[in-house]
Amino acid sequence: MDYSLLWLDWKTNALLPEYTGRIVGLPATRQGKAALRELMNGLKAMGGEPEQCGNRETGPAIRLTEYLGNDEKVTLRRRGEGMELIGSGRALLYGVFHLLRHLAMGETYPEWESSPAYPIRMLDHWDNADGSIERGYAGRSFFFRGGRPVYSERIRDYARLLTSCGLNGCCINNVNVHENALKLLSGSYKKELKRIAACLGEYGVSLWISVSFSSPMELSGLDTADPLDPGVQQWWKDTCLQLFTSIPNLAGFLVKADSEGRPGPHSYGRTQAEGANMLADAVRPFGGKILWRCFVYNCTQDWRDTKTDRARAQCDHFAPLDGQFRDNVILQIKNGPVDFQIREPVSPLLGHLEHTNSMVEFQIAQEYTGQQRHVCYLLPMFREVLDFRLEHRPERDKVSENICAVCAVCNTGDDYNWTGHDLAAANLFGFGLLSWDPQADPAEVARQWSILSFGSDPAVTKTVTDILLRSRDVYEKYSVPLGIGWMCVPEDHYGPSPEGFEYDRWGTYHKATHREIGVERGPDGTGFTEQYTPRLAAMYASVESCPEELLLFFHRLPYDYRMKDGRTLLQRIYDDHFEGFEEAQAMSDAWDGLRDKLEPDVFARVQERFRMQLHSAEQWRDVINSWLYRLTLIPDEKGRKIYL
Ligand code: GCU
Repeated sequence: MDYSLLWLDWKTNALLPEYTGRIVGLPATRQGKAALRELMNGLKAMGGEPEQCGNRETGPAIRLTEYLGNDEKVTLRRRGEGMELIGSGRALLYGVFHLLRHLAMGETYPEWESSPAYPIRMLDHWDNADGSIERGYAGRSFFFRGGRPVYSERIRDYARLLTSCGLNGCCINNVNVHENALKLLSGSYKKELKRIAACLGEYGVSLWISVSFSSPMELSGLDTADPLDPGVQQWWKDTCLQLFTSIPNLAGFLVKADSEGRPGPHSYGRTQAEGANMLADAVRPFGGKILWRCFVYNCTQDWRDTKTDRARAQCDHFAPLDGQFRDNVILQIKNGPVDFQIREPVSPLLGHLEHTNSMVEFQIAQEYTGQQRHVCYLLPMFREVLDFRLEHRPERDKVSENICAVCAVCNTGDDYNWTGHDLAAANLFGFGLLSWDPQADPAEVARQWSILSFGSDPAVTKTVTDILLRSRDVYEKYSVPLGIGWMCVPEDHYGPSPEGFEYDRWGTYHKATHREIGVERGPDGTGFTEQYTPRLAAMYASVESCPEELLLFFHRLPYDYRMKDGRTLLQRIYDDHFEGFEEAQAMSDAWDGLRDKLEPDVFARVQERFRMQLHSAEQWRDVINSWLYRLTLIPDEKGRKIYL
């Protein structure tokens, strides 16, 4: 096999309890049967010899009790000296994987009664039809090759991975829909899509596709894509009838419209709601949904324009439309107001929508967080977002309570280890667990993932868990300071370039001079803070109460501004950069200490990634520090090396 099975190869030294020797129950559905198969295979991989006893119960056993339906509630309870799993076919899958995970970790009776927090928990692939992956850091697509979708056994294992951590959907193509990807809608690839959908469906994973808003023009030569045009509406209805009836497991469309050059309703003077609703009406007869992205902003900003603030764009466009979207539209909102930076405040739009469905979009593809060459475990950041209280309505105040779905831009490709950096698979696994239960503890998730991936040696678990839990702060320290964002190389977004975006059209400026740095976003500046409810708006607007890690997101400050611990702003930035590099070095040394405890290929792959990370971290440290020193001529108080 040219790929690993990640946490599904059930490496374990755990002793299996007696009841795992017998499996009772004969699930009838395809998903139920898959659950039984996974259970048998999983136990065998752990060294067990399970016997399938049909419906005869003759002693301690695992009983699978399937009921008909499609709901996801799963019950795993003790039954005599054995266990019973109860649920629909797909719920049995979740139950089986839960049981296997916990047996692998040495837990004897892992009882569990649970329903997922959200009915839609999915991954968004940015895979292109030619097999390349936009912002992909782990090889090429395993969904597309040579301009078309292709089925392979790997897709089955991918579906198993998703289900095993609680995910139930994936959108297989890039939100930027070009060339052959347009034809996913036209039926040209119906056979391939049907095959992929069926394979995903066996594991309870729904298929989604990204579509272009101007498909009627691009595919059929209509002269408009105006959502209020009856011909356009009919085109979408006919197209959906064809597609949804031939692919039963198709859940709906993901749409990037009026965003970074993609076509959308604005071209016809229509609102985002009019655009989304037209598509929602077309997919409704098939139970379909429209995931409508809110990443709408002016990406041709003149850098001389000081009025426009990109951070404001999502709320400015979408908050006034609350209540105007159909109930099968879900607005897909990036976790921060700008674009997946290492530190951003929570997008205020996530609180504004009271009568419109919304979901958070995270990014586990580490576009701005080290591109899967740096270790950066993102669960702590995701938890912060989901736990954040936007204070709009007391009864569902937290972000996690005001959304109905979650997704993440996916970090996989056809690399042997799926995610390029072996440790990046923790983000895949962890996002799954968190999408099921937004209260999942990042430390516990890291611990579980480490045991399932590297075995149960406590020294390995401790080291890996420590590295993961420190990694985000370390990355943040040596890269972009205090929420300012960007400062990376334009185009590929890797490595430092403090002025790379300064005189460009993307609306991401820091305007550093020799005296001060940052954009003022309080009421005297762009007014972005006013998009929050009053207490939060006041907290962010005041330099004194603004959380320090976001200080330069919200404020323009002089370098001698005194931080709470008495250091100047500049000294804090210097210190962070020196410390961040040292901490990265310490993480790398800690990994080196595991040489004799891990499989040599795994050890070597991660060691190589640490080498890349240190090289890049050193570059970040020296470029940011030197750039600031050259601007200010203020030396580091501790006299460390800065390059003139
Ligand atoms: C970022 C990313 C793009 C992507 C866009 C999006 O800007 O760099 O590659 O297309 O986000 O989320 O649509």
